[in-house]
Amino acid sequence: MIPKVRKAVFPAAGLGTRFLPATKAMPKEMLPLVDKPLIQYGVEEAINSGISNIIIVTGRGKSAIEDHFDVSFELEHNLETRKKKDLLKIVRDVSDMIDVSYVRQKEALGLGHAVARAKDIVGSEPFAVVLSDDVIDSEVPCLRQLLDVYEFYGASVVALMEVPGDAISAYGVVDAEPISHNGGRDRLFRVRNMVEKPKPADAPSNLAIIGRYVLTPEIFHAIESTPAGSGGEIQLTDALKYLLRSRPVYGYKFEGTRYDAGDKLGFLMATVEYALKRQDLGKDFRAYLKTLPL
Ligand code: G1P
Repeated sequence: MIPKVRKAVFPAAGLGTRFLPATKAMPKEMLPLVDKPLIQYGVEEAINSGISNIIIVTGRGKSAIEDHFDVSFELEHNLETRKKKDLLKIVRDVSDMIDVSYVRQKEALGLGHAVARAKDIVGSEPFAVVLSDDVIDSEVPCLRQLLDVYEFYGASVVALMEVPGDAISAYGVVDAEPISHNGGRDRLFRVRNMVEKPKPADAPSNLAIIGRYVLTPEIFHAIESTPAGSGGEIQLTDALKYLLRSRPVYGYKFEGTRYDAGDKLGFLMATVEYALKRQDLGKDFRAYLKTLPL
């Protein structure tokens, strides 16, 4: 029997330097896309994929994340007395949605190191990892797509996306062979090798790892056996490469649109697209955009 994935780990201890000064006193995970913080999109994706046990790896100055997912008595009382039922529901839904635990990553020593902080809470179960910088708009939640592969093969799965040209250097990149799945050979890959942030000339393919993973618990031992790599940090990609020695790892080219909300331009693109899709704002926002002398 393939064990069920019940937990999702959200690394959120990064310094957010790309968004300074906005992130000087506020975690980048709390930057709002229209009116919801980035991390909530990831949390809702996990919930819609069937996972409501959330583990957030935080660091210094991240208490706004904890407050966000906590009950806010003062605010709820205020909305209740003012009979603001809709707003009350929005606020309550956030804290009702999840069973959340927090663990601290004292130093930002890399993504692999962040994931390893969750070891005691995860235990010896398979689990998901969600990087909330990667916002993915899709009909079937991206994490659900990976879980479907996991539930079939019982092995670790990473999300993949084709990235053109030199931009590939910003990612973990896989060397992988396509395998037949659901009547096609264009989405599922068996990973042969992988490398974190290669120089364009050294990239083994144009298939980049995007921030959604389903990992089997052997990854913790792999992380412990992995020395610091790219940027002097303990990389999850390197640990997955180590895991490959003893376990298969799959890659799935997910269906959907991914925004790099950790980057200013990507964040702006996501903001515009999500605003245009909103029932309450889309029409007026589109009309406004059309007035711009572009
Ligand atoms: C991290 C991972 C990288 C992955 C990327 C996806 O990099 O280390 O392998 O391709 O997320 O967004 P970061 O963006 O944190 O530098």
